[in-house]
Amino acid sequence: MGTRKVLVTGCSSGIGLAVAVRLAKDEAKRFKVVATMRDLEKRGPLEKAAGDALNKTLAIQKLDVCCEESIKACINSLPDRQVDVLVSNAGIGMIGPLECQSITAIKELFDVNLFGLVRLVKEVLPDMKQRQSGHIVVMSSVMGLQGLLFNDVYSASKFAVEGFCESLAVQAMKFHIKTTLVEPGPVITEFERKVYEDAENIDLSETDEETARIFRDIYLPYSKMVFTTLGQTPEEVAEQTHKVITAKEPPLRHQTNRLYMPMTALKHADPTGRLPLEAFYKMIFKHDRVFKATLGVLRMLHRRGGNK
Ligand SMILES: NC(=O)c1ccc[n+]([C@@H]2O[C@H](COP(=O)([O-])OP(=O)(O)OC[C@H]3O[C@@H](n4cnc5c(N)ncnc54)[C@H](OP(=O)(O)O)[C@@H]3O)[C@@H](O)[C@H]2O)c1
Repeated sequence: MGTRKVLVTGCSSGIGLAVAVRLAKDEAKRFKVVATMRDLEKRGPLEKAAGDALNKTLAIQKLDVCCEESIKACINSLPDRQVDVLVSNAGIGMIGPLECQSITAIKELFDVNLFGLVRLVKEVLPDMKQRQSGHIVVMSSVMGLQGLLFNDVYSASKFAVEGFCESLAVQAMKFHIKTTLVEPGPVITEFERKVYEDAENIDLSETDEETARIFRDIYLPYSKMVFTTLGQTPEEVAEQTHKVITAKEPPLRHQTNRLYMPMTALKHADPTGRLPLEAFYKMIFKHDRVFKATLGVLRMLHRRGGNK
């Protein structure tokens, strides 16, 4: 196979940046990467991380996933509009009680996380079908498999992404196009900083006192603990994404964090949904000490390199 042309979205920071750089620095030079971002003023960290690969195996272009014209302009500028691997990564988060979120903000989140992906796929799929080859790689989340307290809207957007890809994958297969959902657990990026910053400023007067207390005093400290205990680096996720893209038979789903797998496995263990529901409820509201002890054990496993 010759050099594959890769387009990655959301490369100003985090996972997108790390994936673009990892592929551009592929040892066998198998990729030419178009690393895109909506605001080119933010290109500094990517340029620095790309180093020697910049303008050789990595080019930077503007692309806003919320704007069809921007997507078209970027793809039309590529030789033969060729995108062999699309990495749809751009995404935003949201945490907090539903009553405190505006419908406008919820729609904005779906516009990036779901419709951004839909717009991209609509643009690249016809060309991939014509070429009878391609790989659509989507940065989903474990929250696209298992909902989590106070992540209702974000989780809904990732479930939508999962349903969209799972349906599309069958048709794509007929045209020899592969589809992969990469499903990270917590990853230490700007994403985490932004959602916690929003959480600090959220107007909790829109909800009742009990919900506000659960969010502030239980959810936030637990969630931060989970990030520090189980959190992967964007480079770890990029390494695994590279493996998935270079695999002969890429999987439809790939969870990047082994330590998070027991949580998602609960769902498949009980089709009635009771098991994960009760497990999460007990973990959060009843067994504070068990929860902390479990995190302690996981932290130990993580340090021993179990999180590969
Ligand atoms: N961090 C986690 O814990 C985690 C876990 C599971 C899955 N994920 C998923 O991983 C993906 C990357 O997140 P991350 O953790 O790397 O967060 P991040 O560092 O905040 O990066 C998100 C990227 O998306 C870009 N973006 C937002 N809106 C965009 C738009 N309209 N058009 C183009 N780009 C846009 C951001 O650009 P700006 O700089 O311009 O805002 C940024 O480059 C997301 O899909 C996220 O849902 C993250």
